[in-house]
Amino acid sequence: MNRSWRQQRQAGQDELRAAGVADADQELRWIFEQATGLGPADQIAILDQPVTAHHGRHVDRMVSRRAAGEPLQYVLGHWGFRTLDLLVDRRVLIPRPETEVVAGLAVDALTALGRPGVAVDLGTGSGAIALSLAAERWPDVEVWATDSSADALAVARANLAGLGRRAAVVRLCEGDWFAALPDDLRGRVDVLVTNPPYVAAADPLPVEVAAWEPRDALVPGPTGLEAIEHIIGQAPAWLSDHGVLVVEIGETQGPDAQRLACAAGFASATIHRDLAGRPRALVARRPLPA
Ligand SMILES: C[S@@+](CC[C@H](N)C(=O)[O-])C[C@H]1O[C@@H](n2cnc3c(N)ncnc32)[C@H](O)[C@@H]1O
Repeated sequence: MNRSWRQQRQAGQDELRAAGVADADQELRWIFEQATGLGPADQIAILDQPVTAHHGRHVDRMVSRRAAGEPLQYVLGHWGFRTLDLLVDRRVLIPRPETEVVAGLAVDALTALGRPGVAVDLGTGSGAIALSLAAERWPDVEVWATDSSADALAVARANLAGLGRRAAVVRLCEGDWFAALPDDLRGRVDVLVTNPPYVAAADPLPVEVAAWEPRDALVPGPTGLEAIEHIIGQAPAWLSDHGVLVVEIGETQGPDAQRLACAAGFASATIHRDLAGRPRALVARRPLPA
């Protein structure tokens, strides 16, 4: 006789708790949802029904991966970001809540144009920011999304396919920062947004992050400022006269980011906070045309 969902739940909770997973109950609900397609209320309704062999194997595999330390988002294979449900795996950084705020600042800047605009997302990873711009500003936006990682772009491409007809406004390009972009975009970009790697090489990362997420997505070099400095320095050549640069930063990097923006000739450089109140985004504006 197959075990019941109640027994399956108990076994999963025991395994996750023994592995030190902090919110084992909630994570198991997500794992059940992934395996069955059922929301929390429907999961309760089937607790005394037998688990099919197929479902049991699927849940056991996901629980074992999670108990071995793999991030829940990779185990589930997808994660929510603003209005989107994105495929994620080890080829890309897991989209973070602070990046939802960064994407929102870019959406606001596009909206404020009051006309169709051109946006660039440098280092797009899963496509989280670029696809949010397309989803939320379609059809009034043309989005260029770049990454130096062909693996990451394969994930972004899969996510783009899930965007339906809104996908038509997005272009994916492989290459090193601005080198990935076509030359005729110079001076035409209304909103340049990026969540670059910004962790210093010697800074400690949470074990789960260091062991599972791509290091190139996190660490640009010894100081952590290398990619931010490059992007801020090059951005004015690509932005339109009224263009806006939005950059996600580490919470201690605000003063450096503002200094770099002033040195690059931006007229204003303000730091915005994430939902937890931490200073996590630079918004820099070109001078208005005379
Ligand atoms: C912090 S992740 C951000 C991913 C995604 N935008 C997000 O917010 O979830 C940084 C991304 O920059 C890419 N990257 C790193 N170095 C790069 C470079 N030199 N040129 C272009 N992209 C780069 C990484 O592959 C990674 O996808």
